[in-house]
Amino acid sequence: MKIDIITIFPEFFDTFLKTSIIKRAIEDGFVEIELHQLRDYSHNKHKKIDDTPYGGGVGMLMAFPPFYDVIHKLKKENSKVILLSPQGKLFNQKFATELSNMNHLILICGHYEGIDARIEALIDYEISIGDYVLTGGEIPAMILSDAVIRLIPKVIHQDSAAEDSLQNGWLKYPQYTKPEQYKGFKVPDVLISGNHQLINEWRMKQQVKKTMEKRPDLLKQIEMTEKEVKLLKEFNKNQK
Ligand SMILES: C[S@@+](CC[C@H](N)C(=O)[O-])C[C@H]1O[C@@H](n2cnc3c(N)ncnc32)[C@H](O)[C@@H]1O
Repeated sequence: MKIDIITIFPEFFDTFLKTSIIKRAIEDGFVEIELHQLRDYSHNKHKKIDDTPYGGGVGMLMAFPPFYDVIHKLKKENSKVILLSPQGKLFNQKFATELSNMNHLILICGHYEGIDARIEALIDYEISIGDYVLTGGEIPAMILSDAVIRLIPKVIHQDSAAEDSLQNGWLKYPQYTKPEQYKGFKVPDVLISGNHQLINEWRMKQQVKKTMEKRPDLLKQIEMTEKEVKLLKEFNKNQK
């Protein structure tokens, strides 16, 4: 996969690209990330890329021509152009999975009051990472890239990605590591029983319970197995 990121602050990405799983994914050739300084496409001799909004109003708006030029230079037949915006569709694991199957993403980071609305004619998706307003699209672009890259086959262990919270709709069951006991805080007995059937049953129950308690809003989107439906009914009955 190739990800092109258009930004006026490429330095935001320095640590992101050189750390942990993203660094390894780049080194191992699973993803190529290229940063493009929008100012290089400015039509102004001082490399200015913003101006005042028509009709008046506070703040500065990023101009259309530099975006038009850089997108047309980068875009190929199979590219998907994504505008990071608080007005976009809310990003989630399903969307990340869909994007992880693409060959080429072009991410557009806005700043200031945002971008001249003509940008909308050039994009495939407008994506928001949450219902709040950030100063720029760089952090959203990192969040989106991170969520997508870790889903590219072999970037992380496939079983690990498949079992993550939200991947199959459910929140993941609770996990514990050594020591078995610390200051009276104990690991559940079943996990040290060595009985894998019991452990699997406990985990399934826990993921249903956790999702019901923490994110009941997720339940209506999950395609449940008969066993999961039965567990959910039991939990509901016990709660009454
Ligand atoms: C201060 S915001 C502009 C907000 C704009 N004036 C509005 O009311 O919709 C500047 C830039 O930050 C990015 N941004 C801010 N919040 C975001 C969010 N929740 N998701 C994705 N991008 C966001 C976008 O790229 C946006 O163009």
